[in-house]
Amino acid sequence: MKFQKSPGTQDILPGAVEKWQFVEDTARQLCRRYNFREIRTPIFEATELFQRGVGETTDIVEKEMYTFTDRGERSITLRPEGTAGVVRSYVENKLYGEPDISKLYYIGPMFRYERAQAGRYRQFHQFGIEAIGSTEPSLDVEVIALGYSFYTEVGLKDVTVEINSVGTPSVRAAFREALLGFLEPKRSLLCKDCQSRMDRNPLRVLDCKVDQKHFEGAPSILDSLDEECRSHFDKVKQGLSDMGIPFTVNPRLVRGLDYYTHTAFEYKAQGIGAIDTIGGGGRYNGLVSDIGGPEQPGVGLGLGLERTILLLEHQQVEVPGKHGLDVYVVALGDAADREATRLVYELRSRGIRVERDYGGRKMKAQLKSADRLEARYTAILGDDELNAGVIALKEMATGEQKSVPITSLAEELLQGLK
Ligand code: HAM
Repeated sequence: MKFQKSPGTQDILPGAVEKWQFVEDTARQLCRRYNFREIRTPIFEATELFQRGVGETTDIVEKEMYTFTDRGERSITLRPEGTAGVVRSYVENKLYGEPDISKLYYIGPMFRYERAQAGRYRQFHQFGIEAIGSTEPSLDVEVIALGYSFYTEVGLKDVTVEINSVGTPSVRAAFREALLGFLEPKRSLLCKDCQSRMDRNPLRVLDCKVDQKHFEGAPSILDSLDEECRSHFDKVKQGLSDMGIPFTVNPRLVRGLDYYTHTAFEYKAQGIGAIDTIGGGGRYNGLVSDIGGPEQPGVGLGLGLERTILLLEHQQVEVPGKHGLDVYVVALGDAADREATRLVYELRSRGIRVERDYGGRKMKAQLKSADRLEARYTAILGDDELNAGVIALKEMATGEQKSVPITSLAEELLQGLK
């Protein structure tokens, strides 16, 4: 029987995984500078958490969740996103009782049953941050800035930031009426999805890629904002301008999750087929209480790592962090092989990156491996060397070769590798 990976999943093999490690390291370093600390929550949660948190009428909850009943008859869902689980954990562990606001980050797999295409997977990975405990617009700005810095620091160019205010639930209710007033006469012109969205989640209609031509003159949510929403939004825009972060206001930006209030934003870039959104987030002032916690406001983002890596490839960004090898130990003959086993252990214990031959192959084959693995040095051990207590050490770049006592090989290498 032959097995293949499931549609929409990926194997990340050596050679590609170095890019992932680089991107993840960049995220972690950035979080350290911004004082966000890592949180690890379960990959699966009670289904109801996502129904309540993400929203019953969202595509994610309606069509995309991996939901199953476990042996204890509980309905379980593989997390389709990170925010609901982090907020659940924040409430369950009473992090709101701590004197400072909670600034949390996570990196990990998420699951959505979507139609697989370039940049869209069923298991994908997000770098996400959540800052819970303050309504300050400066925190929205900090979150947007962190995401922007992430893209810049991994080496991407031409990433744009779009922002909007989606107001409060009461602002949205008023806007909903105004919008439906505009859409109702056009109902029959709109696509099927939009017609059904009009009944369930009309704000998402404006997001439709097909029907844009019918939306000219549509009311803008920005005209429905009350004083508080407007002032918050103004401060966010001011903060971004003060930092010199370029952004555009997109009044049609709605996001695919229901928990947002006030600020919503997305990072966009060209180069991944039809997909242009590479990350997004926003403020969620009602989510903590919606899932049973106290009134605590939050703001956060989620950045897709597959999309980041696809763009790095598209823009041909050289990422640092090749696998690399310090020394390849070539052993010829049984006695040398035995000594090599001991020696590579010693070298590795001293922090040196070492590989050796495992098949008792001929010298030529072993040297070829050393070349392929781009070892900086080759150390050759045969019977003659072994009897004399030395090893032949060759620096690959220069071709320079010398005989070194086996007992001082580690020292010699550590000097040379400096
Ligand atoms: P989201 O917009 O649903 O937001 O997802 C964030 C990012 O995850 C997307 O911009 C995209 O890069 C990536 N992504 C989503 N679905 C897929 C997929 N099927 N394949 C590949 N990449 C994908 C959230 O998930 C929110 N939790 C973000 C947030 C955090 N808001 C506040 N805090």
